[in-house]
Amino acid sequence: MKILVVGSGGREHTLTWKLSQSPLVEKIYCAPGNGGTAKIAENLHISVDDIEALADFAEGESIGLTVVGPEAPLVAGIVDLFEKRRLRIFGPRGKAAQMEGSKSFAKNIMQKYGIPTGYAEIFTDFKEAVNYVNNHEVPLVVKADGLAAGKGVIIAENREEAKEALEDCFVSKRFRSAGKKVIIEEYLEGEEVSLLAFTDGETVLPMVPAQDYKRIYDGDLGPNTGGMGSYSPVPVVTKDIYDMIVNEVLKPVIKGLANEGIEYRGVLYGGIILTKDGLKVLEFNCRFGDPETQAILPRLESDLAEIMLAVADGCLGQHEGLKWSPKSCVAVVLASDGYPGKYEKGFEIKGTEDVGLSEDIVVFHAGTVLDGKKIATAGGRVLSVSALGNDFKDARERAYEAIRKISFEGMYYRKDIALRAVKSQSGVGSGELGVSSLGSF
Ligand code: GLY
Repeated sequence: MKILVVGSGGREHTLTWKLSQSPLVEKIYCAPGNGGTAKIAENLHISVDDIEALADFAEGESIGLTVVGPEAPLVAGIVDLFEKRRLRIFGPRGKAAQMEGSKSFAKNIMQKYGIPTGYAEIFTDFKEAVNYVNNHEVPLVVKADGLAAGKGVIIAENREEAKEALEDCFVSKRFRSAGKKVIIEEYLEGEEVSLLAFTDGETVLPMVPAQDYKRIYDGDLGPNTGGMGSYSPVPVVTKDIYDMIVNEVLKPVIKGLANEGIEYRGVLYGGIILTKDGLKVLEFNCRFGDPETQAILPRLESDLAEIMLAVADGCLGQHEGLKWSPKSCVAVVLASDGYPGKYEKGFEIKGTEDVGLSEDIVVFHAGTVLDGKKIATAGGRVLSVSALGNDFKDARERAYEAIRKISFEGMYYRKDIALRAVKSQSGVGSGELGVSSLGSF
């Protein structure tokens, strides 16, 4: 079978890498792909937003399954279009993708179906929103309703910051139509966990949990990024907490959506925070996480293509279930100097071939391009190095050792990825929930 993977980041390279291991897969195309996918698939000059061109390609090449990485084409209705043209595709339809595409939609679903989440109110009027801010305690979280390329969530430490965020949405229209509606939410504190699940709208198969690092600097300092690293499993997620997330969040959401006449097929990503008052949902995404995917899929022992076909065909209930390696996985992102602000591109990347030779270590490309025989930087997040180990200490050592073989001008990475997992695993600093048992999650 031929597969088309839509997207160009580290997540898409990881999906392509995992799919390429399936005996069901004979060839993979990536649109547009990156320097890493170019080596295991054929990259296409089609943008992720050009959903008509993607459908034309899938039809013309008799693609057996299209896998969509990023949220924008899902929210724009790529799945609806493919289905109309009788093309098999993995991902939720536009209406279901509103779980990420509209924060007010997701919040209303959560409120209606009793999914634990932070208290929030929804506003379409600037003055009413300002009035709310004036009458509530800070910090508050101001969220633009629609997709805002990861920049639409502002944690306001004081009322001035909250009002500035509201001005950005309603007055200067920084987020265009995505900021026409705004959610103001209570600020929640705790450890964050990402739990993703495959679902065909009826059966829910949860993956292993992961945790990502959003800030640019060690110690969780500095501005937010797309993610600077991740690890799986998450020591704080015990079997009880895992079951709670599955049974009180993921399954009821899928059921609630079905009750609304919305069948959710694809991956549902639950962004969960473990507060002292219990777990709460911070957000849902309608796709795999990046860089969580780079720490989750190396642990997947089942055939990803088989699972995705079962999801797309609505027969996940007949699947035997997911098999996972009990090993720990650590993924460290290598970024361009200056990211998430301005950075330069076009620097040659050296050493990735040497790393690829070690067992249990994979270099996933994100912002890279194949330039003749050389690989060059082409984005803010450039690579991620994923390493499996018998425990987090082992996985971390392998990841950082591999990184020492890689170089490009201005290469920057965090040095503390999964350090807290090492501490939890050795029983130190396991946090308020005080758990260090890992099981096979
Ligand atoms: N790592 C967060 C996300 O993929 O949205």
